[in-house]
Amino acid sequence: MRRKRCLKFPALALALLLCLSLAACGSGQGTVDGNPPEETENATPVTDAGTEDAAVMENTEAEDTQAAIEFSVEAPGEGPASRSAVVAPEGVPMVTLNNGVQMPRLGLGTQIQSLERDDSPEGRALLNETSRQSVVAALQAGYRHLDTAHGYNNETGVGQGIIDSGVPREEIWLTSKLWPNEYGEGVTMEAIDAMLERLQTDYIDLLYLHHPAGDYVGAWKDLQEAYRQGKVRALGISNFDNWPEAYHAIVDDMEIKPQVLQIECHPFAQRQETRALAAENNIQIECWYPLGHADERLLNADTLEAIAAAHGKSVVQIILRWHMQEGFSAVPGSTNPAHIQENIDIFDFELTDAEIEQIRAMNQGEEGRYFNLNYEQMGAFFTTPFGG
Ligand SMILES: NC(=O)c1ccc[n+]([C@@H]2O[C@H](COP(=O)([O-])OP(=O)(O)OC[C@H]3O[C@@H](n4cnc5c(N)ncnc54)[C@H](OP(=O)(O)O)[C@@H]3O)[C@@H](O)[C@H]2O)c1
Repeated sequence: MRRKRCLKFPALALALLLCLSLAACGSGQGTVDGNPPEETENATPVTDAGTEDAAVMENTEAEDTQAAIEFSVEAPGEGPASRSAVVAPEGVPMVTLNNGVQMPRLGLGTQIQSLERDDSPEGRALLNETSRQSVVAALQAGYRHLDTAHGYNNETGVGQGIIDSGVPREEIWLTSKLWPNEYGEGVTMEAIDAMLERLQTDYIDLLYLHHPAGDYVGAWKDLQEAYRQGKVRALGISNFDNWPEAYHAIVDDMEIKPQVLQIECHPFAQRQETRALAAENNIQIECWYPLGHADERLLNADTLEAIAAAHGKSVVQIILRWHMQEGFSAVPGSTNPAHIQENIDIFDFELTDAEIEQIRAMNQGEEGRYFNLNYEQMGAFFTTPFGG
C-alpha cells in the first residue's frame, strides 16, 4: 500500500519521534538527463559497464586518474580515517566524491522502523540484534557500505555486526547521521565522539546532518573540524533538499562543501531538479527509499515486471540496477538474508537504453514522493531530544 504523503501534524510528529529516521523528503541524483554530474569527479557511469569485470575496470580507471584530478573540496585530514581501504566488492561501482574519496555506490540500509517503536530494553535489544544480523549477512554477501543513524537507535548493533563479520573495518564504508538535537558548535563534536563509541570505531566514512533543523550551521563547523582531524572522511546533508535556505547555507557558505546529499529517490520520484542542483557542486546523490519502501504499486508495476522477465531478474533487482545505471548511490534496506543477497546480484546484466527510458517514464515528480515535510513548520519538532 502506498503511504500517505502528508500526515496530520500530531500523527506525523509521533511517527517521527518513534520511527525517526524517517525522513522527510527525498530526491535523486545525477543530472537532469540522468547522467552523473561529472564522470571524472563524481558518479561513475555504468551504462557501458554492465558486468562485474567492467565495473572493476572502471574502478581501476578512477584510481588511475584520481591523482591527476584537482578536486573542488579539500581532502580529509590525517587521522584514523586515513586507514580506510575500501574496495569495490562484487562488481559494485565506486564513485569518486568531490574530495577525491571513493565510495561504493550500493549499500545496506539499516533502519528498521517496525522495531523502533518498542522503546523498552527488550525492544532495543531486539532492534540491535536484528541490525547486527543484517550487517553480518550483508558483509558476508559482499556489501562494503552500511547506512545507519543515531536516529535509528541501532548503531550499537551495526558496530557489533562489523566486528562479528570478521571483515576489517578499513574495508567498509560506514555512514551515520546526527540528529538535530546534537547540532551546535562544541555540542556536535561531543556527539561525534559518543557516536564513535556506539559504533566501536575511531572514524566514520560519511557523516550526515540527518535533517535541516536546529543549529545546522554550528553543527557543520564541528563537522568540518572532525573532517580536518581525520575522524570523518566525507560530509553529507540528508533531506536538505526540502529546505532551500538550509541547503544553500551549507553548500554556498561553508568552507567545506558536502560530498553527498541523501534524499528520497525511486522510479516514482526521480528528483531531477534536486539532481541538477547537487550536480552544480559535484555532490553525489544517495537514495533513501530506493525501493519505495516496498510499495506494492512499485514492486508490482507492469513496466518493471516486463523488464524483469526479459532479464530473468526480480523487479527489485531491476529497480536497483536502474539506480546504479542512473549514477545514484542507493541503500536498500532489508533484514532478510535472501533479499540482502538478491539485492547485490545485479552486476551480471545491463538495462538497455530503451528500458532505462521506460523506467524514467514512471516518474511522477514531486507527486511520487512518500514524504515531503515542511521543515519551516516542523523544524522545532526535529530538535526534540530522543533517547537513542
Ligand atoms: N535520510 C533519511 O531521512 C532516511 C529516510 C528513510 C530511510 N533512510 C535510509 O534508507 C534506507 C532504505 O530505506 P527503507 O529501508 O525504508 O526502504 P527501501 O529500501 O525502499 O525498502 C525496504 C523494504 O523493501 C523490502 N525488500 C528489500 N529487498 C527486497 C527484495 N529483494 N524483495 C522484496 N522486498 C525487499 C524490505 O523488506 P525485507 O526486510 O523483508 O527484505 C523492506 O520492507 C533505510 O534503511 C535507511 O538506511 C534514510
